Amino acid sequence: MGEVLAGGLLRAGWQAADLVLLARREERRHQVAEATGIAATLDPVEAVRGRAVLVVAVKPADVPVLISQIEGAVRQDQIVLSLAAGIPTSRFEESLAGVPVVRAMPNTPAQIDQAITALCGGVHADEASLAAAEKVLSAVGGTIRLDEYLLDAVTAVSGTGPAYVFLMAEALTEAAIREGLPRHAAERLVRHTIRGAGMLLTAVDEGPEHLRAQVTSPGGTTAAAVHVLEERGFRALVEDAVRAAAARSREMGRG
Ligand SMILES: NC(=O)c1ccc[n+]([C@@H]2O[C@H](COP(=O)([O-])OP(=O)(O)OC[C@H]3O[C@@H](n4cnc5c(N)ncnc54)[C@H](OP(=O)(O)O)[C@@H]3O)[C@@H](O)[C@H]2O)c1
Repeated sequence: MGEVLAGGLLRAGWQAADLVLLARREERRHQVAEATGIAATLDPVEAVRGRAVLVVAVKPADVPVLISQIEGAVRQDQIVLSLAAGIPTSRFEESLAGVPVVRAMPNTPAQIDQAITALCGGVHADEASLAAAEKVLSAVGGTIRLDEYLLDAVTAVSGTGPAYVFLMAEALTEAAIREGLPRHAAERLVRHTIRGAGMLLTAVDEGPEHLRAQVTSPGGTTAAAVHVLEERGFRALVEDAVRAAAARSREMGRG
């Protein structure tokens, strides 16, 4: 996600010379510098020095080590912008006294600048800190401010959400093939159906219920399909999946 955000920043017009990347292995340092054209270092203190915004994009389990590597070097006029799922702002504040911390949850459509990222500020994050974080995050898509207690739910909905859609795409493709469509046609039909439906959903004011009603005539084919999905508990299944992801996010936050 760090590399994706770096790519987005460059596409949005940031200069490579104004950015620096941190890696923990030489092989990765080399690879990420080659891929992005941004200078990369293995030295956490060097990466932190003089930077306005410090983006933390390590796995949640690696956060404590990273904090211990930078805690002596981070200043109160810098902003820590953490993307780590489940890790509360307070975890950073415990070690980085007085430093503004912003916690954010993007999603993988960031790769094509189509992310939606929810963000919240910790106790020392003021309007300027949130605005600076939004400026960075908006390089890869839209942003929405929410209270921190909602971030686990966000992780379960939009952070994890692309996986639900991809699973749906897999299932629909397999079903299409079983109905006799050649694989290449099935894949194209499914990709474009999901793209078109997603674009329609974001382009109009009406909600999904209305859009679904538009394609559902009484006694028709969509009605037959939706009846099966409803009868077999589609909504309850989605609700259970989201609840499990939110619970896992809370668990990761407790470390
Ligand atoms: N993927 C998503 O959809 C998504 C969405 C929202 C938020 N996030 C969050 O983004 C974070 C990163 O996820 P990811 O999927 O991008 O993970 P990833 O592919 O494993 O990338 C994390 C990178 O951080 C490096 N790293 C770990 N500890 C380090 C340290 N102390 N110093 C320097 N580099 C260090 C890792 O190095 P190695 O190469 O040596 O492992 C790895 O290259 C996670 O906290 C996740 O919750 C991810």
